[in-house]
Amino acid sequence: MTVKYTVPGLSTDQVNELIGSLQGRLSAYNDLHLTLKHVHWNVVGPHFIAVHEMIDPQVELVRGYADDVAERIATLGGSPKGTPGSVIADRTWEDYSIGRDTAIAHLGALDLVYNGVVEDNRKAIELAGELDPVTEDLIIGQTAELEKFQWFVRAHLEDIGGRLSTGGASSEAAASDAARVEG
Ligand SMILES: [Fe+2]
Repeated sequence: MTVKYTVPGLSTDQVNELIGSLQGRLSAYNDLHLTLKHVHWNVVGPHFIAVHEMIDPQVELVRGYADDVAERIATLGGSPKGTPGSVIADRTWEDYSIGRDTAIAHLGALDLVYNGVVEDNRKAIELAGELDPVTEDLIIGQTAELEKFQWFVRAHLEDIGGRLSTGGASSEAAASDAARVEG
């Protein structure tokens, strides 16, 4: 899709590249807020209520980020794709793999989920930094809050020496298993 108009001061070529990057973030956020609800519903065990309740404000935040990114795409002259099929089409990662499981297993897997989202956000920040500081500002603010939530997740996985039980895990299943052993 190519835009027919855009905001003053940017070229349509620049904006087409920017929109490609923003569409990736939109699908990542739509995937993330659904995945967070899946955790909210599937967490079990003695730490159920802490994790169940920790998740919901983050769902609201990430849903708002999806809305803000979609509206930025529209503002730039593009058409945001928000259907379930577009989330799957844009996805460069696997579906969340943990079902009913303990708080610590889900938190271990969520640490990996946030690694992926934040790494891709930083690539989007880099591109936006070259093309459009307004978009850059939007993604920077969102990324700071996502990183803060990842700290909430990691605080459950960290020992008093500052080591993460999930350190070095390269899959959600491996991170869950590592968190379970330490937790
Ligand atoms: Fe709920």
